[in-house]
Amino acid sequence: MMRTSASAILLLILLSQCTKDRPDPGDLSSITYQPHAYQVTAPVTFPQMEIPADNPMTEEGIDLGRRLFFDPILSADSTMACASCHLPQSSFTDNLPVSPGIDGINGRRSAMSLLNVGFYNRGLFWDGRSASLEEQALLPVEDQVELHHSWTRVVEDLKRHPDYPEKFREAFGIKNTSEITKELAAKAIAQFERTLISSGNSKFDRVQRQEAFFTDEELNGYIMFFDRGSGFPDAECAHCHNAPLFTTNEYINNGIEDIQDLTDFPDMGRGAITAKTIDNGRFRVPTLRNLAFTAPYMHDGRFKTLDEVLDHYLSGGHNQLNKDALIYPLKLSEEQKSDLKAFILTLTDPDFLTNPAYQNPFD
Ligand code: HEC
Ligand code: HEC
Repeated sequence: MMRTSASAILLLILLSQCTKDRPDPGDLSSITYQPHAYQVTAPVTFPQMEIPADNPMTEEGIDLGRRLFFDPILSADSTMACASCHLPQSSFTDNLPVSPGIDGINGRRSAMSLLNVGFYNRGLFWDGRSASLEEQALLPVEDQVELHHSWTRVVEDLKRHPDYPEKFREAFGIKNTSEITKELAAKAIAQFERTLISSGNSKFDRVQRQEAFFTDEELNGYIMFFDRGSGFPDAECAHCHNAPLFTTNEYINNGIEDIQDLTDFPDMGRGAITAKTIDNGRFRVPTLRNLAFTAPYMHDGRFKTLDEVLDHYLSGGHNQLNKDALIYPLKLSEEQKSDLKAFILTLTDPDFLTNPAYQNPFD
């Protein structure tokens, strides 16, 4: 008896010695944690961006988020990343009516541009079902159609990866690889998304700063867009697509669906979230910035060109009980329609697409 317990104690001592001597492979505490605060810069006309107190932006967090955004490690078969549907050269959409996920199955809605997404604080997605970028970033990974993966496995892969543990340490000060979580990954992605801001170099922004002048056509379009009168018909656009973000982010039925009854919408949109019939067919107003790169248009990508969009608004759309009163047949001539288009295209911002900070870090 004595002998066994003595050797058991010896074994315990040896074991504890052993763990003391061999360093914990997950230990990250020797890597410097010295995050650099990141200051959001936006055109002067923009509102203040709301940044959650528990996710301050840092250079290191943004760098990690950018990697995760472009890394197919987030998808089940390692073929797709966030960036597969949100491409920098397309103002962070994919130019498809609806987006196929990793299994080639189509989703039911059009990928949204992520331009200025950090300013959108009335719900994310076309139906507003997600409250924050941190919450949103968790969803595509486990979405059956999109990345069709599991966070448990993504987190395992991140922990085993040669670079990520160090990146999580630098961004969030974790002391051990075991502290990597999906929540931290989502925070990093959200930080990167908050940097996706208009360059301020679109013609519209330069005219605002009096560094450029509208052509006659653009000026006519501007007058109609903002209902400034002066002998031009109102186009009503700015009520929903107002400067500087060119969206109010409200939920609206703009009359694109040819149906009679509020229960007949093929996609209920906001109504499926609020469970109110009156919200059926309402979708969040999208921005009009950078439309030159984001075709096709609307939540289901039904319009291939801006001309088709304008023809819709000129026609006044289809009537339902909740169609917004500002959507009615407009009295614009063909020439005025093309002036309106000329104005909308002054919101084109190619510098946003080519900003080196937004490109694939693995290229
Ligand atoms: C298979 C294509 C696809 C992939 C992959 C994808 N998205 Fe999306 N994304 C979409 C679609 C489609 C929508 C609109 C969905 C809806 O409204 O129901 C969307 C919407 C969003 C929005 C909402 C924008 C807004 O203005 O409300 C954000 C943010 C976003 N995606 C970020 C991401 C991130 C981060 C990832 C990676 C973790 C990702 N997406 C992966 C297709 C995709
Ligand atoms: C009453 C509010 C309202 C008014 C007025 C309005 N829109 Fe819209 N607009 C919306 C909504 C809501 C959507 C998204 C609808 C959907 O996808 O189902 C939208 C979508 C668009 C899109 C598609 C953008 C994209 O990324 O898919 C364009 C372009 C557009 N509107 C231009 C205009 C123009 C030009 C005018 C003025 C002639 C105008 N809108 C007037 C509410 C409005």
